[in-house]
Amino acid sequence: MKLPTRVTICEVGTRDGFQIEPEFIPTEQKIEVVDRLSATGMPRIEVTSFVSPKAVPMLKDAEAVMAGIVRRPGTRYSALVPNDKGAVRAVDAGVDDIHTVVSASESHNLANVNMTIAESLAKLEATAQVAHRGGKPVYAGISCSFGCPFEGDVPLAQLESVVERLVGFGAAGIGLADTTGMANPAQVGRALERLMPRFPGVEWTIHTHDTRAMAIPNILFAMELGVTHFDASIGGLGGCPFAPGASGNVCTEDLVHCLTAMGVDTGIDLDALIDTSTRVQAIVGRALPGQIVKAGKWTRRYPLPDGVKERLPARA
Ligand code: COA
Ligand code: ZN
Repeated sequence: MKLPTRVTICEVGTRDGFQIEPEFIPTEQKIEVVDRLSATGMPRIEVTSFVSPKAVPMLKDAEAVMAGIVRRPGTRYSALVPNDKGAVRAVDAGVDDIHTVVSASESHNLANVNMTIAESLAKLEATAQVAHRGGKPVYAGISCSFGCPFEGDVPLAQLESVVERLVGFGAAGIGLADTTGMANPAQVGRALERLMPRFPGVEWTIHTHDTRAMAIPNILFAMELGVTHFDASIGGLGGCPFAPGASGNVCTEDLVHCLTAMGVDTGIDLDALIDTSTRVQAIVGRALPGQIVKAGKWTRRYPLPDGVKERLPARA
């Protein structure tokens, strides 16, 4: 495999995850989770969203969360916004980066943000202006980049035209989001091979959901093609309230475990991350999909069964 020496993870659990928890997570617990994630050395955290509180009531405390967290030097704190109103709120709240959202599928975009793609892109042009005036880089995410739960296949040309507009607004990075876990590695490869050479200088992020157990395979193949930025969610929280069948993101500690085992540096303390995931499970009151919290790290060893030790051949 062609592996990079280092990748950058953006933790999105307190946004992508907490937005669809059935019970409202109290503000102080959201702050606690962000602070714990910061303490693991997490380089980027998408803390919350500045969206309509009617659309996503679970994140109506976005300002209070941003105001309450302890900012660790070395971590960049961002928030998701769908429009310029959200960007004004996010800049006022002191985010480092603005993450925007539009879908590559008309049906999902209408379901998610009540706009056609063209209407969204007009709003995002205004959003980018607000962000840039505030000195904040824009990272533009594209939902349903690899398939839509309503429309099925999303043509690559359609994805490409949305990327082109977002790059035109001065987006520093583009996030290709597999919102409902429909992408496979060959398809991710085809998209990246077309888009990466066409838009040089763009920082590419892959945002995966593990709905169909293809998240880590997709990430590994994107790494082969030179992508070094990935979103992930503590415990495997996550899902879109406006995409039926959506389930959790790739689990952060499982991904960091895989990368660490392969010798790829993330700058994240895996043990602290596992402890954080255990705490998040207590907060949400249920077991989460992550595997490493259950299995332990690959370095875990068990005592030998009775009678085996005596019969082991001597090692040279
Ligand atoms: N933050 C807070 N309030 C906002 C807002 C924002 N970013 N954008 C719009 N609003 C408010 C408006 O002020 C208005 O308030 P009012 O009813 O008190 O006058 C109300 O929301 C409706 O505004 P409108 O522009 O007509 O929006 P809409 O009802 O068509 O909804 C969105 C559009 C984009 C605001 C809404 O669909 C949304 O927030 N979606 C978020 C989806 C999401 O987060 N999905 C998951 C992540 S991908
Ligand atoms: Zn997502």
